[in-house]
Amino acid sequence: MEEVPWLIVVFRKNYDVDELGAKTKNYYVQESVGIACGFLIAAIHMSGLATLTHTPSPMGFLSKILGRPVNEKPFLLLPVGHPATDGTVPNIQRKNLDEISDFI
Ligand SMILES: Cc1cc2nc3c(=O)[nH]c(=O)nc-3n(C[C@H](O)[C@H](O)[C@H](O)COP(=O)(O)O)c2cc1C
Repeated sequence: MEEVPWLIVVFRKNYDVDELGAKTKNYYVQESVGIACGFLIAAIHMSGLATLTHTPSPMGFLSKILGRPVNEKPFLLLPVGHPATDGTVPNIQRKNLDEISDFI
């Protein structure tokens, strides 16, 4: 976190506020922001950069230090940078298909 050149903080917006100050609900916020983050992570990796998902607890301080409005809540923190030349990754095996799915 201290070394990366970029820190992307993703906020979810539960509702919008129109020009008269009235709230308008946004639908499928969690799902939409989650999907968008997945595409963003894939794009970061495909561009040759490295990232990981970080969700510090609590995250509320991010709203404060970044001056975000009350209708935005912190969702995900993505440190982004160039992979370390001496970096290592664990040899984690994928689960088999039958461990993650049922075909009916
Ligand atoms: C949505 C999400 C949030 C996460 N937040 C944290 C976190 O706050 N702290 C942490 O140590 N790991 C967290 N993890 C796990 C790490 O991101 C992950 O295990 C680590 O980056 C290793 O990545 P890899 O399993 O793809 O190799 C989170 C994972 C996900 C999917």
